[in-house]
Amino acid sequence: MSASAPGGAVEPFDAVDVIRIKRDGGQVPDDALRWMIDAYTREYVADSQMAAFAMSVLLNGMTRDEIRVMTDAMIASGERMSFAGLGKPTVDKHSTGGVGDKITLPLAPLVASFGPAVPQLSGRGLGHTGGTLDKLESIRGWRAALSNDEIFGQLQDVGAVICAAGTGLAPADKRLYALRDVTGTVEAIPLIASSIMSKKIAEGTDALVLDVKFGSGAFMKDVDRARELAEAMVALGTDSGVATTALLTNMDTPLGLTIGNANEVRESVEVLAGGGPADVVELTVALAREMLTLAGQPDADVEAALKDGRAMDTWRAMIRAQDGDPDAPLPTPRETHVVTAPASGVVGAMEALPFGVAAWRLGAGRARAQDPVVHAAGIDLHVKPGDKVTAGQPLFTLLADDEKRFARALDALEGAWSIGAEAPASAPLVLERITA
Ligand code: URA
Repeated sequence: MSASAPGGAVEPFDAVDVIRIKRDGGQVPDDALRWMIDAYTREYVADSQMAAFAMSVLLNGMTRDEIRVMTDAMIASGERMSFAGLGKPTVDKHSTGGVGDKITLPLAPLVASFGPAVPQLSGRGLGHTGGTLDKLESIRGWRAALSNDEIFGQLQDVGAVICAAGTGLAPADKRLYALRDVTGTVEAIPLIASSIMSKKIAEGTDALVLDVKFGSGAFMKDVDRARELAEAMVALGTDSGVATTALLTNMDTPLGLTIGNANEVRESVEVLAGGGPADVVELTVALAREMLTLAGQPDADVEAALKDGRAMDTWRAMIRAQDGDPDAPLPTPRETHVVTAPASGVVGAMEALPFGVAAWRLGAGRARAQDPVVHAAGIDLHVKPGDKVTAGQPLFTLLADDEKRFARALDALEGAWSIGAEAPASAPLVLERITA
């Protein structure tokens, strides 16, 4: 069936036919699926029709071929970058997002210190997980917006770039993601996989490591769904010629001892100086090994580069190249509120999601895309699950610019932590490695 578009052009398909195929559990033919995405980007297919299609995908799923065709169509909706002229391998990391997840900050310079180029085109935070750009903007002078020429030049000279992803990559995803957000269809694994991977493949990296998180503070609460998402994304990357692997990592507890922006930069610098919390170091090292393996250096001594200052040198060069001052003092909060242990004992679980929500309510995150973040706001943790504490000992400090924010943050933390007699069962941080 065909239809006439405004201006008289004949459309080769009809959105209702495509919706019906998916609604009835069928496989949409490649050319019809490509058309659906293209026609939606051109605003010929209406939001109401795409919403019905997205809901059919959520209910009935998609085959591996359909996910690949949909991803290709989203890539084709915008520009495609290429780093082929750099003369060195490029390797990138994507995290599905978690509380206290600052790993990109130490990881990009660490991996680049071994020679590969690391283009980290990142986003801003929305909701309880923070955005990498928001964190880096705590550094005086640092600039997130770079031209394609600047990105290329910095990858050549410094090796690592963390900057804002341009709006030219996969514009179809931008429209579709906003629609999914208001139609209860964000959770569809084929749609998440094609959304994330269309942007990463359009970015033009040779290799990609995915940090797919599961647990209370993660997008995917359930490990089986996280595994399904990881497998779909690894298949998509592989089918598109991007060497892709994934780690399934635990996000039940905040990562490290800081949740916020400036405090997460401080902690990242500690890791680059050879210190930092054990879990942040463990995940940074695991992801760096994975990235360097894909870039042809499976035996790289990653820990040595953290200890001997090589990763720190690359960090400083990376910040300076984007007009940031790596030596400038980071912003500090006007108000602090310390929560202390009500009794002696052992710290039980600390639930990532409520800690993320509390940091967000303190001003570290934004409710609307246009809102500013308060760089000094967030939470500093002084203990982790399993630590012994005595009554009155500080457990964590809330950081804000206005003390009126503390009440709602404390509400979010109600029941999110406990002091008991027994240490909680410990779970591995890196659960599984997923390959093609
Ligand atoms: N992040 C994305 O970019 N897309 C999704 O669908 C979910 C998370």
